[in-house]
Amino acid sequence: MRKSGLLSALAYLSTARAATPEEWRARSIYQIITDRFARPGGDISSPCNTKDQVYCGGTYQGIIDRLDYIQGMGIDSIWISPITAQIAENTPSGSSYHGYWQSNLYELNSLFGSAEELNALAAELHARNMYLMVDVVVNHNGWAGEASSVDYSQFVPFNSKDQYNEPCDIDYDDQSSIEDCWLVTTGTSLPDLKTSDPGVAEVFNSWITGLVSNYSVDGLRIDTVKHVEKEFFPAFVEAAGVYSIGEILDGDPAYTCPYQDYMPGVLNYPVYYPLLETFQATTGSMGRLIEGMNGVSQACADPSLLGTFSENHDTPRFASYTDDIALAQNVLAFNVLADGIPIIYAGQEQHYSGGNDPDNREAVWLSGFPTDAPLYQLIASANKLRTFAAANEPEYITTLTSVLSNDEHTVAMKKGNVVTVLTNVGANGGDASITVEGTGYTGEVMDVISCEPQAVEGGNLAVTLSGGAPKVFYPVEALAGSGLCETT
Ligand SMILES: *[C@@H]1O[C@H](CO)[C@@H](O)[C@H](O)[C@H]1NC(C)=O
Repeated sequence: MRKSGLLSALAYLSTARAATPEEWRARSIYQIITDRFARPGGDISSPCNTKDQVYCGGTYQGIIDRLDYIQGMGIDSIWISPITAQIAENTPSGSSYHGYWQSNLYELNSLFGSAEELNALAAELHARNMYLMVDVVVNHNGWAGEASSVDYSQFVPFNSKDQYNEPCDIDYDDQSSIEDCWLVTTGTSLPDLKTSDPGVAEVFNSWITGLVSNYSVDGLRIDTVKHVEKEFFPAFVEAAGVYSIGEILDGDPAYTCPYQDYMPGVLNYPVYYPLLETFQATTGSMGRLIEGMNGVSQACADPSLLGTFSENHDTPRFASYTDDIALAQNVLAFNVLADGIPIIYAGQEQHYSGGNDPDNREAVWLSGFPTDAPLYQLIASANKLRTFAAANEPEYITTLTSVLSNDEHTVAMKKGNVVTVLTNVGANGGDASITVEGTGYTGEVMDVISCEPQAVEGGNLAVTLSGGAPKVFYPVEALAGSGLCETT
C-alpha cells in the first residue's frame, strides 16, 4: 500500500535522525568555534583580535557559506560551539564568544544566528550527507562575578541555589572534589550544577531530548566530563539518542578510557600528548608515540570510537611549537589515519600558529579560505583514502593500527590495507629511510600523498621519506574509483 506523501516524509524525518556510534565511526569531524570560523556574506577581512576575547562575528550562515571548503578536505561532519544563550557581560576574562558560559538552556545564542538559521545549517549539512555535532555543557553555567555574588534566579531552568553545589576550589588529587567543586570561583565564575541530584538530572535529560530533536542534531560533544559524576551520563546519552563524545582532559589512559563505559566516545587525550611530544621537535622519540598508542589500545574499550585530534581550542596550535611544515604534515597524517574518528580544528589546515587560549582561537576567515594550502591538501588526501578504505574494507575502521617497523625517528604503521610511514626528522633533516616488512602487499602500491608509486619486494617496502614528508601507501589496483592520484 502506498503511504501518503506526508506520512512517508514524516517517516523519513524520524529515521533520518539519531546517528549511532556505528554510523559515526567512519566519519571525520571539523571542529568549529562558531564565532571564529566564517562571517556571512563572504567577508574575509573583518579583524578579530584574539586577545580581546570578544565576539568577532562568525555565524551559522557563515558556516553554510563555507561547507564546500570543509567538504573539500574530505570531511563529512562538523562540531560547533554550544548553541545555548550566554551571559551578556564583557568581563575581565572576556565575553562568552566560545559558548561555555551559558545562562539559559532553552534559548539560543542569538549572536550566532536564529533558530531558522541553525535549522538551515542542519538541513544543508544533511543534504550533503554531513552530520551536525553540537557541544553541550552540563557541568556549569557562567556568571560574571565571584561565586559569592551569584544570583541563581537569573538562570533558566536551574534557578534555585539548591540545584548547585556549594562553591569550593578543586583539589585535583581528589575525584569527588573534581566533580563537586567549581572550575572557577573568581572573576567569571562557573556555578557548578548538582548533577548528582535526580531532579536536576531529569531536567537535563528531557532538555537534551528536545535539543537534539528541535535542531536535528546528529551527535554531541560533551564538555568538562571529568567534572561530573560518571553515573550521570548513561541516562543523558540515552536521552540524547545520538553518538556522544566526552572531553576528559587527562592524558592517562587508565583515567580517561574507563569513561567509555559511560558514553560511546572520549576525546583521545591519551594519544594527543605522546603525538605532540614525538613531533613537536626533531629530537622527539617515536617510541613515545608507540607507547601512547599501546596504552590506549590496551585500556580503551573501543579505540575506533575515540576522537583523535592534534589541536583544539584548549591546546596551543601545533605550529606554535614549530613552524616546520613537514612535522605538521606527519602529525596530520597520523591524526587522520590512526585509530579513532579524526578531528581537525578549524584553522589547522592553514597552519595557524596561535599559542595558549585565547591566541589559539584565530578567525579562520582571515586566511581567505585557500584550498591549495599544503596542509589542506594533505588532510584531503588522507581523509579521502580513509573514507575509501572504510567503504572497501569492511574491517578497516575497527582494525587497530599495528606497528610494522620503527626506529627512533621513523615508524611504519598498518591499518587494513593502508600503510602509513611517518618521520620526525623535519623538513631539513635529510632523507629518512626504513625497511618495512610484513605489509601483506603483493602488487604495486602508491603513495597517495605524492602520487608516486612504490616498489614492493616480497611484501617489503624500502621507503625513503624526502624532506621529512610522510608517505601513505595503498595497493594501486584497489585505488580505482577513489579519485586519488587520478587512477583510471
Ligand atoms: C524544543 O521544542 C519544544 C516545542 O516547541 C519546546 O517545548 C522545547 O522547549 C524545545 N527544547 C529546546 C531544548 O529547545
